[in-house]
This record gives sequence, structure tokens and C-alpha cells, in this order.
Amino acid sequence: MNKKIEKIIKKKNKSKIICLTAYSKNIALILDKHCDLVLVGDSLGSVLYNYKSTREVTLETMINHSKSVRLGVKKSIMVVDMPYNTYRNPREALRNVKLVMKKTKCDGVKLEGGKKIVSIVKILTKNKIPVMGHVGILPQTDKKFTFKGKRLKESEKILNDTKLLEKAGVFSIVLECVETKLSKKITDQIKIPTIGIGSSANCDGQVLVIDDLIGMSGSKLKFVKKYADVKKVINSAVKNYKLEVLKKQFPQAKHSFKM
Ligand code: KIV
Repeated sequence: MNKKIEKIIKKKNKSKIICLTAYSKNIALILDKHCDLVLVGDSLGSVLYNYKSTREVTLETMINHSKSVRLGVKKSIMVVDMPYNTYRNPREALRNVKLVMKKTKCDGVKLEGGKKIVSIVKILTKNKIPVMGHVGILPQTDKKFTFKGKRLKESEKILNDTKLLEKAGVFSIVLECVETKLSKKITDQIKIPTIGIGSSANCDGQVLVIDDLIGMSGSKLKFVKKYADVKKVINSAVKNYKLEVLKKQFPQAKHSFKM
């Protein structure tokens, strides 16, 4: 197995795993200094393109953004989300995942789903492709985006899904908006790391969408914490630039070329 991926698995029960999304090089360069794993999430569909659903994200879009992120990620693991309708059966999944791996040089891919995608995960892991699972809210297929694990039957299904995914060979599983006690139960019962988003501190690691964390998206989601107001910083810089151009204070001689 890839050494970097082995290192992430070994962090379970020792140290929390730090993950964030990135969609382009300059942000990826910053995240790479701090993260264990950088995810090129298909959340870029809503964050960058205003799509109503991640279903609209294409393989080509994921590949292009991932190529940019690859330029910034050296130290951490880079995982790429496989978009909707690109892994409907084992053959299609293997073909598309191989294309993503080849074009983006990523370290692994993430697929949404539990029992339904086990045969797909198995074919990928048999081909030595590192796969990350994703259960709880599944933005590619769910109709309602409310937290998971309210009812016993749903909780049992999610727990069972994580066990099946682990058996199929995934190296880690994202738990999206999974109820607190259930995320603990899952984290305690599987040997691979769980990475939570809206799933409490019980998970082995955490992931957030970078634009939410830096205050660019204006997200009001319960599980998001805004660590900076980068929108404010950019707004002030652009406002000052505009004022200086209007007042003829920029550019100065030092910004100009002279023979
Ligand atoms: O697409 C994405 O950004 C994700 C994370 C929210 C885990 O899947």
C-alpha cells in the first residue's frame, strides 16, 4: 500500500487527521502545509459553479481542477471525488477512475455510498487503487439533506455500510452529518479512520469545505466554523485599489517601466 496512505491509517487512535477541500493550486499550496489529506470535492459544483446539485459536476471538470490542485499538493494525500454517474458499474468505475488517476496523478478517489457500491469498491481496491468511502448524507443521490441516524433502522444500515466498505478495502470513510452517538459507534467498531463533516468530534479526523472555513462562501450550515473573513480582506484590498487608481496614486513610478 501507498506509504502516505498507510501513515493516515496508523493515525487512528493516536492523532486526529486533518483534511480540507481544495479546488485550485494557490489554496492547495497553503493547505498542503497543514493537512494530512486534501480532497478535490465535487462540492466545487455548488461552491464555484452555483450548481443546484453535485450531480451536474462532470468528470472533465473534476480532472481540470484536480490537475491544478496537484500543483500545490506535495506532502499530503490528494483524493479526488468521482462525480455522479461515473461509477454506475464496476467496468465504468474502473475505466473512469483509471483515467482520473492517470490525468491528475492523485493518490486516491472517493465514492459515495454503502452496500450498493461494494462491488465497485472491490474491483478498484483489487486493482490497487486507494478508495475513500463516504456515508451519511450522500449529496449525489439524497433528496433530503438532514442529518443521518435519527432512527434505529437507518443507524444500523449506516453502521453495516461502513463495515462492508471496510471489508471491501477502503482506507478511510467520510461520515457526512452522522448523529453523534452513531459516529462514535462506527469509529469504535471499524479499524480504518473515519473523517467527519458535521459528525461530531467522535471521528478520527475532520474535513470542511475550504471556502466555508475562510468565510468566502457565506455558509450558514450548523457544522461550519468560520475561522477567517477572507471576503472582508479581499473587499478591502479591491476598494483601496479602486480608490488609488481613481486618485492617480497607483501605479507609481516604481510600478512603471522607463527606458
Ligand atoms: O465534495 C466534498 O467536498 C465532500 C466533502 C464535504 C467531504 O465530499
